Amino acid sequence: MTVTIVGSQLGDEGKGGVVDLYGDAADVVVRYQGGDNAGHTVVEGDEEYKLSLVPSGAVRDKVGVLGNGCVVNPETLFDEMDALRERGLDPDVRLARRAHVIFPYHRALDGIEEEAKSDSDAEVGTTGRGIGPTYEDKVGRRGVRVGDLLDPDVLREKLEYVVPQKRALAEEVYGVETGEEFNVDALYEQYREYGERLAAEDMTVDAGDFLGDRIDAGKNVMFEGAQGTVIDIDHGNYPYVTSSNPTAGGAATGTGVSPGVVGGGEVIGIVKAYLTRVGSGPLPTELGGVAGDTPGYDEQGEGENEELAEYIREKGGEYGTVTGRPRRVGWLDVPMLRHAARTNGFTGLAINHVDVLAGLDEVKVGHSYDLDGEELFTMPATTERWGRCEPNFRSFDGWEDVDWDVVAEQGYDAIPANARRYLDYVSEQIDTDIYAVGVGPGREQTVVLDDPFE
Ligand code: GDP
Ligand code: IMO
Ligand code: MG
Repeated sequence: MTVTIVGSQLGDEGKGGVVDLYGDAADVVVRYQGGDNAGHTVVEGDEEYKLSLVPSGAVRDKVGVLGNGCVVNPETLFDEMDALRERGLDPDVRLARRAHVIFPYHRALDGIEEEAKSDSDAEVGTTGRGIGPTYEDKVGRRGVRVGDLLDPDVLREKLEYVVPQKRALAEEVYGVETGEEFNVDALYEQYREYGERLAAEDMTVDAGDFLGDRIDAGKNVMFEGAQGTVIDIDHGNYPYVTSSNPTAGGAATGTGVSPGVVGGGEVIGIVKAYLTRVGSGPLPTELGGVAGDTPGYDEQGEGENEELAEYIREKGGEYGTVTGRPRRVGWLDVPMLRHAARTNGFTGLAINHVDVLAGLDEVKVGHSYDLDGEELFTMPATTERWGRCEPNFRSFDGWEDVDWDVVAEQGYDAIPANARRYLDYVSEQIDTDIYAVGVGPGREQTVVLDDPFE
């Protein structure tokens, strides 16, 4: 069977930890979209792993696959694999030959366009990893795929076509001087070598066949979403989004496994008990922003309660895994979760960071929005309208800080009663059962109610 792990909010909900939690029963863990913009944390005992590309199952020695929906920077991948080997793990990662390759010019153009947009306060606040420009080339039918790295003639031909275009774009449209990142010969040499290593280590596969064979043989496959529903290119708050589909449908298109198989399995929505966001765009329930990080939407709560935001940010360690940027913090946004539940078809929820909110007198949630005199229960489709939504808050009595390790051991009933009220409310509102409650970053610091593989 399959289990799909999907972020229900804006990324960093604790997906890596949940992949690790349930990963023991999986035979293969598959990323289906995104690239090294992701930063997934797994805490095993005293060891903390921050993974960008290698699927989180590596910590449990599971085979990892990067599906065709991913964009792969080979340099990041090899560095990450080498670093894991140095720490005593043995990552076995297979790349879809249909996955697209990130080149240095993609990263350069990512930065160049962000810089250009910043003149009008319109930058997305990307991770700068070249994600958008690589997906642009994929859709523009001029991308280089992993399979092309294995055939030097094809690689050279493709680079000779595309690189002069990129150079012209950088120099003539944006007026930026270019260097080695836009040099065909240098790129060819570097990426041909990556191809040789991929071939030598037998790392490339037809992902659909590879996974289909295993599913037919009764193996368990886990799909590890990156990012989250509200930064999905289609279902997120465009244009403040990433360039792929983190939503559950992406698990099918991004791997070559059929929608029936993905939908026949479980889809677990990962929810942070509050909200964080790195990068720009609206955030109706924002507590306090990070100055300058919310172009165009500064009025929406920034500064209103910066002290509380700061408290949660520090207690939760809310700094970007990839870029180190401080994350913006807000109360849980329930219309956002209703949108995510419908889009993804969650069969279960994992609600994390319940420990981080402990000790507050009051915990609030945005229950619905007011917009132009109307009450809305789900997110409007345009970002302009979402940006004008005023949340209707509901207030919950806070819960005390307790020994969460003991709570994790004893189970759901050991969670402080007020926290259970909060959790039950969330579960009811989106009509989905809770499978797990995160009460700390560690593998053992989770109250497990249900295991999707059982
Ligand atoms: P991902 O991108 O969704 O995998 O999430 P990140 O790894 O970027 O961010 C989640 C952070 O919160 C990591 O540092 C995790 O170790 C940590 N974390 C996950 N679940 C919990 C939890 O229930 N409580 C606390 N305190 N930390 C958690
Ligand atoms: P994980 O998998 C949180 C955000 C960026 C930016 C927008 C576009 O760890 O949850 P991109 O570089 O993808 O073009 O940036 O998306 N973003 C994330 N935010 N968690 C992530 O990944 C993210 N990956 C991208 O901050 O706002
Ligand atoms: Mg992350």
